[in-house]
Amino acid sequence: MSDHHANGPDLPPEGRPPQGLLATAYDLETGEETLAHYQRWAATYDQEIGVDNEYAQPARCAAALDEVADRSGSVLDVGCGTGLSGIALRDVGFADLDGCDFSPPMLERAAGTGVYRRLFEADLNAGLGIQDGTYDHAVAVGVFSFAHIRPDALRSVIRAVRPGGAVVVGLNDHFWDVGTFPAELDAIEADGLASVVSREHGEHLPGADIMGWVVVLVRSGRAAAIRIDP
Ligand SMILES: C[S@@+](CC[C@H](N)C(=O)[O-])C[C@H]1O[C@@H](n2cnc3c(N)ncnc32)[C@H](O)[C@@H]1O
Repeated sequence: MSDHHANGPDLPPEGRPPQGLLATAYDLETGEETLAHYQRWAATYDQEIGVDNEYAQPARCAAALDEVADRSGSVLDVGCGTGLSGIALRDVGFADLDGCDFSPPMLERAAGTGVYRRLFEADLNAGLGIQDGTYDHAVAVGVFSFAHIRPDALRSVIRAVRPGGAVVVGLNDHFWDVGTFPAELDAIEADGLASVVSREHGEHLPGADIMGWVVVLVRSGRAAAIRIDP
């Protein structure tokens, strides 16, 4: 049993215990377990997370990107899953969307949404396999978590966007409170790769009483295309 549950197995720090495959998601320990988990979860994820637990992070992350980015920009949805994060981006007006994930069944579901121009398979812990600066912006919603993507893989996501491009990350309190992700943010800023322009606490999965963070980074370098409203 992993030791990340402050109140015991499968319990979030506060609130009621997660049910269904959500409960399992917080006990993953290896990349292999994570992949197998999402192969099983593809068919029921949208109902359990999107509907039953009122998943709030996709809309929060899409709104955060909309605050800083031009809607005409290209966006990579990293760990797009079944496409809930892409649908939220489309709903605020981003149309040039690509997605990637390491789970083929999740990607199949994402294809069914019709919101992505291109979908590709990639294990972020092994790199994205795309050129530096390919996209204007990127999001990673619900992807930085236990046994999912290592915090240092955030550097690959940042390098996927051009200088001046934004990266929006949504993650739950459980993983944030471990401390490795905020420490990686500090290291990325210290290395001059990107700046954190906002971090906001709010709802993650309100149906399961789980809160989370939305972090917005901007890649360092010239070519600022961040919108600055008058
Ligand atoms: C909680 S889901 C989030 C999906 C979507 N972004 C959303 O907000 O609904 C996490 C996703 O990350 C993917 N994932 C986990 N580890 C990964 C890795 N190492 N490389 C690529 N994708 C990964 C899973 O397959 C899953 O689709």
